[in-house]
Amino acid sequence: MIKISPSILACDFARMGEEIARVDKFSDYLHVDVMDGIFVPNISFGMPVIKSIRKVTDIVFDVHLMIERPERYIDEFAKLGSDIITIHYESTKDPAAVLKMIREKGKKAGISIKPGTDVSVLFPLLPLCDLVLVMTVEPGFGGQKFMHDMMDKVSVLRNIVEKENYNIEIEVDGGINAETAAIVANAGANVLVAGASVFAAEDAQKAISDMREAAEKAYKY
Ligand code: DX5
Ligand code: ZN
Repeated sequence: MIKISPSILACDFARMGEEIARVDKFSDYLHVDVMDGIFVPNISFGMPVIKSIRKVTDIVFDVHLMIERPERYIDEFAKLGSDIITIHYESTKDPAAVLKMIREKGKKAGISIKPGTDVSVLFPLLPLCDLVLVMTVEPGFGGQKFMHDMMDKVSVLRNIVEKENYNIEIEVDGGINAETAAIVANAGANVLVAGASVFAAEDAQKAISDMREAAEKAYKY
């Protein structure tokens, strides 16, 4: 099943509650990008913002941690009401330990790789994951161009997940719109993060349903 996860990095921060209300009834997850200015060259927002928006919606929070040594904050992100917590493979010495930590808090554990990281580093970690996030742009900023050559990673992961019967969602993030949605779903991704294409649209509901429809047509699993 295709799931859509609008990224609030692209919303109007002065009106966050209203922006979330534009999408939450039509989406599966809400993608929450946390950036520390060290792991990525940008700073977004952190705990106080998540705490506030948790009060205005029941949607699943799909929290994408682009921070160095995320193990320092897993407990806090879990307590704030994150449902899925995704860390970066490149951000910590021991990704397996952090994934276990997330599951111990009763949350779904995700792992992400940057465009330059080989997909094979994820293979031994798959039994510890509920979600794998393949970045389709260099993390740090919204509104960048989709990297088509990341689709090999998605196909490789989809084949393993099907073969081994793993209960793992495959998510893509960066440059997703109705056009690229078909490409990523065809490669085997089932969770689509979308920032600019949803929040910059006049009709966010339509942007979401167009994307979902295009992806569902192309998804074969
Ligand atoms: C980038 C973030 C993305 C970003 C996607 O580092 O992880 O979630 O918001 O934005 P768009 O969909 O505009 O490429
Ligand atoms: Zn993200």
